[in-house]
Amino acid sequence: MKISASVVAQMLGAWQVGPGPAHQRLSDRLRLLVLDGRLVLDAALPSERDLALALGVSRTTVGTAYRSLADTQFIDTRARSRAVIRLPDDPAPHRQAASSSPTIDLSFAAPAAPGPILHRAFDTALERLPRYFDRRGYERDGVVELRESVARWYAGRGLPTRPDQIMITNGAQHALALIARTLVRPGDRVVIDHPTYPHAIRAFTDARARLVPVALEPDGWNVEQLRVAGRGAALAYLIPDFHNPTGQCMPAHVRRRLDPGCPVVIDETMADLAIDLPRPVAFAADHPDAISIGSTSKSIWGGLRIGWIRAGSSILTRLSRMRPGTDLGTPILEQLAASILLDGLDTHLPDRIHRLREQRDGLYAALAQHFPDWTVSIPPGGLSFWVVLDQPISSRLAAIAPDYGITLAAGPRFGIGGAFERHVRLPYSLPVDELASAVEQLAAARRAVVRGERGKHEPSTVA
Ligand SMILES: Cc1ncc(COP(=O)(O)O)c(C=O)c1O
Repeated sequence: MKISASVVAQMLGAWQVGPGPAHQRLSDRLRLLVLDGRLVLDAALPSERDLALALGVSRTTVGTAYRSLADTQFIDTRARSRAVIRLPDDPAPHRQAASSSPTIDLSFAAPAAPGPILHRAFDTALERLPRYFDRRGYERDGVVELRESVARWYAGRGLPTRPDQIMITNGAQHALALIARTLVRPGDRVVIDHPTYPHAIRAFTDARARLVPVALEPDGWNVEQLRVAGRGAALAYLIPDFHNPTGQCMPAHVRRRLDPGCPVVIDETMADLAIDLPRPVAFAADHPDAISIGSTSKSIWGGLRIGWIRAGSSILTRLSRMRPGTDLGTPILEQLAASILLDGLDTHLPDRIHRLREQRDGLYAALAQHFPDWTVSIPPGGLSFWVVLDQPISSRLAAIAPDYGITLAAGPRFGIGGAFERHVRLPYSLPVDELASAVEQLAAARRAVVRGERGKHEPSTVA
């Protein structure tokens, strides 16, 4: 796949800002794009001349940046007319961390498991497993127990649902990828919130969709802009419940009015994490044709790898036919445990919400102390703050953060075209004392960026 110079220029965003020579800033930013997965392996970069023109810099600047990437094995220039993205064998040469404490991972917005509850559920699931021994074990759409539990979960959110409206998947990400592969053709337009969940961007770009971003402003979703953007689009993908990364929740009157005029995929992965509001009514209660996806990853544990799709029968049939190309079903034991855990959600959720509220308050207080010049709005739920920085330094901060004992997901990962260099997502899914240490380390990392230091580490993945 060839990537055009204008696309690369857009992805690079505000690369010109910062210390050091231009070629170094350019190669640093390209390296970050490769490590983030925004520039995909085997893609062909534009020629030096085209990129220099698109960026308004000399060809020497681009040539030197490309040579530095070739020297560090981030591109391959041998025997090809265009430089091709690759990864070195060791993309993150170890450097002595400036902090002696172990790394605190702020790149994941995901809570730890409720250990004893999980244990009990798996014990019971193991007792129930023999019921399946006389069957083949391939349950492509999911076992009926779990589909019934998911149907009850929707009923509890104001949306009567039958088990045959549900397909169980290996997490919500699998659901998204399956939907993208089934419903999106190369060149189709897909409307997204901007910012949005990075792996959704990935699922739709892997399906070669053209993404149409609609800004999600601090005051929420713009129904009119979504309607205009949705005209002729193959899909709109929205996260109305405690949106990742902003934590915003779409008010009931906006839900009712929202009509992008194209099929809508609603991601309800965060729906249970209602800290200050009642749990929102399921989106499809107002929009019966919506394709909804959900997951146990945030309300229970990411390690379960259980998600689902709720849709009408013709869409589910198409998804079910497409599925065997990549997998033949979800493990039965995990499904039985997830069924027990989902049915018991109302018992354990209050504790999770209580903790999240404490962690959210703790992170807020630590940020107010160390970063009075950053803007932090408190979301009504979800797992993270979408922080506005005082300067466009998010990628540089993420690149240097591991040297200071933390990993971060830079703002541009949540958008397209290099946007959000002035934002960073900070999750409060860790214990308060770890969050407090992480903010101190973040303050040290910011001082290093301001001093003009450069990071050498690999940015981590996000969830
Ligand atoms: C909005 C959103 N959708 C989907 C996912 C993927 O969830 P799962 O772990 O169920 O694959 C995540 C995980 O962070 C998410 O935040």
